[in-house]
Amino acid sequence: MKIKKSEFIISATKREQYPTEAIPEIAFVGRSNVGKSSLINMLLNRKKLAKTSSTPGKTRLINFYSIDDKFRFVDLPGYGYAKVSKSEKEKWDAYISDYLTYREFLLSIFVLVDSRIGPTTLDRDMIQMVKDLGYDVHVILTKKDKVKNNHLYKMKQILLKELGLKADNIIECSSLNRDGKYKFWDHLNDIFKQSGIDIFMEKQ
Ligand code: GTP
Ligand code: MG
Repeated sequence: MKIKKSEFIISATKREQYPTEAIPEIAFVGRSNVGKSSLINMLLNRKKLAKTSSTPGKTRLINFYSIDDKFRFVDLPGYGYAKVSKSEKEKWDAYISDYLTYREFLLSIFVLVDSRIGPTTLDRDMIQMVKDLGYDVHVILTKKDKVKNNHLYKMKQILLKELGLKADNIIECSSLNRDGKYKFWDHLNDIFKQSGIDIFMEKQ
């Protein structure tokens, strides 16, 4: 299918506020400022659907986006933002872990890692949490345009060797250059197929 309609559904914190229609959800998690909202916009060919900012801490709630009422993208608050209070940080972490732990429609989790920095301690904790919850780990290396190929290669080696990721589950992206979009959709098509979900996204 081609995307006809992508729309913002709701910002939520509590489980009771999550959308109720039983369609699969794809979650994007990662450090504050890693590029989650920008990635969602790039994937959906939209400029400003998800709000982005050069200042970290823009997405503070769980934002749900519906794609043709067939599946949803879920933009989670960023973790590791130093400039918020401890109690605020704990609140965001609780939103994230609550969603990941209890969401019955959650099909797949993409952890975004900044290509420049590589997996931080918090990213490693998140990857471990995804594994512990029984999900496959998919990593998106963001801001590919900011690094040289040999640096990107090193970051990938860390993900493969230290964190045990499968090569197929690492996608390099640049939202700036619209790079990695087709690879992402191919990958998601594989996930849909493996899960017996009858959705196939065409290139667009
Ligand atoms: P929070 O909502 O704070 O958790 O951040 P986020 O992960 O949603 O990041 P966001 O998409 O708002 O992007 C943060 C900053 O990085 C913005 O200034 C973006 O323009 C920039 N950015 C995002 N993706 C890319 C990319 O691929 N390349 C470059 N060069 N900059 C990017
Ligand atoms: Mg955001």
